[in-house]
Amino acid sequence: MEINQAEFITSMAEYGPFEGKGLPQIAVVGRSNVGKSTLINRLCRRNKLARTSATPGKTRLINIFLLNGAFHLVDLPGYGFAKVDKREKERWGQMMQHYFTSQAELRHVLCLVDIRHEPTADDITMNRFLREMGIPFSVIATKADKISRGARSKNLAPICRALLVQPWEVICFSGEDGTGREELLQRMEEVLRETAKDDGTETEAAAEWNRTAGEE
Ligand code: GTP
Ligand code: MG
Repeated sequence: MEINQAEFITSMAEYGPFEGKGLPQIAVVGRSNVGKSTLINRLCRRNKLARTSATPGKTRLINIFLLNGAFHLVDLPGYGFAKVDKREKERWGQMMQHYFTSQAELRHVLCLVDIRHEPTADDITMNRFLREMGIPFSVIATKADKISRGARSKNLAPICRALLVQPWEVICFSGEDGTGREELLQRMEEVLRETAKDDGTETEAAAEWNRTAGEE
């Protein structure tokens, strides 16, 4: 599949109704600065669709994007950002809890970790939370351009151990050079197609998109 259309829908401090809600959603989570917004921009081939920053903590709100008119990609605020105060952390926790527990549209979560580092306690907590909730996810190892190809599998080992996944399930990604973009798009296509069949909620837009998906 290809992303032919991407538009910003809305930003929310608290998850609630928004225009067009009801389509399947894929959410992006991970530590602050791991590259969530960059990944969204690279996927959509739009430099400024999601705001990125070298300073962690850029995305403080839930940002919703509509892709191909068929599904929503949700950019969630990063966790583990040391500089936020206790109140802000609590607000983050409540917002995330509310997001993950209150809606039926969420089909899959992209869990981003930096390929150069071992997952943090927060990454492991998020991983456990998703497993307990039974929410399907994929681990995406970002910033793959920062290490050599040869070093990738070595770096993936501790990530896989901590997050209980197999190396071949992890997608190595780079917002810088586009590594892993095709693989990620394919994973997203599978997820949307499978879940649509599973629960019979395939919308007209998604069905249309599924019909045309293999054509490019
Ligand atoms: P928050 O919104 O703070 O949660 O961060 P985020 O996860 O959205 O990170 P963002 O996409 O803003 O990227 C953070 C920094 O990392 C920016 O300076 C990006 O340019 C850089 N970055 C992100 N992805 C990559 C990548 O794949 N390769 C390289 N080299 N830099 C990256
Ligand atoms: Mg961001």
